[in-house]
Amino acid sequence: MAEPILRVREIHKSFDSTGVLRGVSLDIQEGEVIVIVGPSGCGKSTLLRCINGLETVDSGEIWLRGEKISGRTRDLYRVRQKIGMVFQSYDLFPHMKVMDNLLLGPTKALGRPRQEVEAEALRMLERVGLREKAYALPRTLSGGQKQRVALVRAMLMQPDILLLDEITAALDPEMVSEVLNVVIDLARGGMTMAIVTHEMRFAEAVADRVLFLEDGHVVEEGTPEVFFHHPQTERAQQFLRSFTYASKRDKGEEQPKNNAGD
Ligand SMILES: Nc1ncnc2c1ncn2[C@@H]1O[C@H](COP(=O)(O)OP(=O)(O)OP(=O)(O)O)[C@@H](O)[C@H]1O
Ligand SMILES: [Mg+2]
Repeated sequence: MAEPILRVREIHKSFDSTGVLRGVSLDIQEGEVIVIVGPSGCGKSTLLRCINGLETVDSGEIWLRGEKISGRTRDLYRVRQKIGMVFQSYDLFPHMKVMDNLLLGPTKALGRPRQEVEAEALRMLERVGLREKAYALPRTLSGGQKQRVALVRAMLMQPDILLLDEITAALDPEMVSEVLNVVIDLARGGMTMAIVTHEMRFAEAVADRVLFLEDGHVVEEGTPEVFFHHPQTERAQQFLRSFTYASKRDKGEEQPKNNAGD
């Protein structure tokens, strides 16, 4: 198999002497989409934050395209340019038009010509159905529209890998699919991604591989077919049952919701 684009080796991370990540290892190949699931508080966000340098690791190593990006020698500025991240809450600058939000990183951090980036931004906005919002202020956008802009903004930085942390968790249900469809489109286009989500149907549709995280470890790892339909461990079976129960209880609502946690 080719050299993975991202390699995480035995990382440990504690907060106040509580071990959150207790030896997590994973590889992501170029163009691969991994989905990380697990109960609330199991360390999913911490893992993504360690990967893009928002948290330091206590031990273990993280490599991006063969370059070590954890530890004291890391160049955080460059790491964050190569690793895109979108969070649950929209973090667009409220006083800047959508286009100015989009242009900021590519022109300032990458030094790309404004005209070139603007043309690319317009093409990408068109693709996510937001061409007409290019020069609007963020407050005039719905939550789902803001998250689509946040995805475009991350992609315009031409990252090696995109990390998505529950990007639909704060959205009204009717806006979830418009955002997730953009992610599925990016996956089809070959974008390498690590996705944390509680949307199990989406996880099954988008993942090449699913990792189940619990108690600071990757407890189970497999294809979406195996993980969602024939989970191997008792803990994964229990976790998945909590979703089924929620969906039945919600009077026939189609999208299962997490019942265990937030
Ligand atoms: N900066 C911090 N300081 C102290 N404790 C923290 C910090 N960040 C996370 N934790 C703790 O680490 C644990 C893992 O948190 P994390 O946010 O990674 O979980 P998660 O799997 O993303 O959960 P959720 O599904 O609810 O988002 C939790 O117990 C949390 O309280
Ligand atoms: Mg989280």
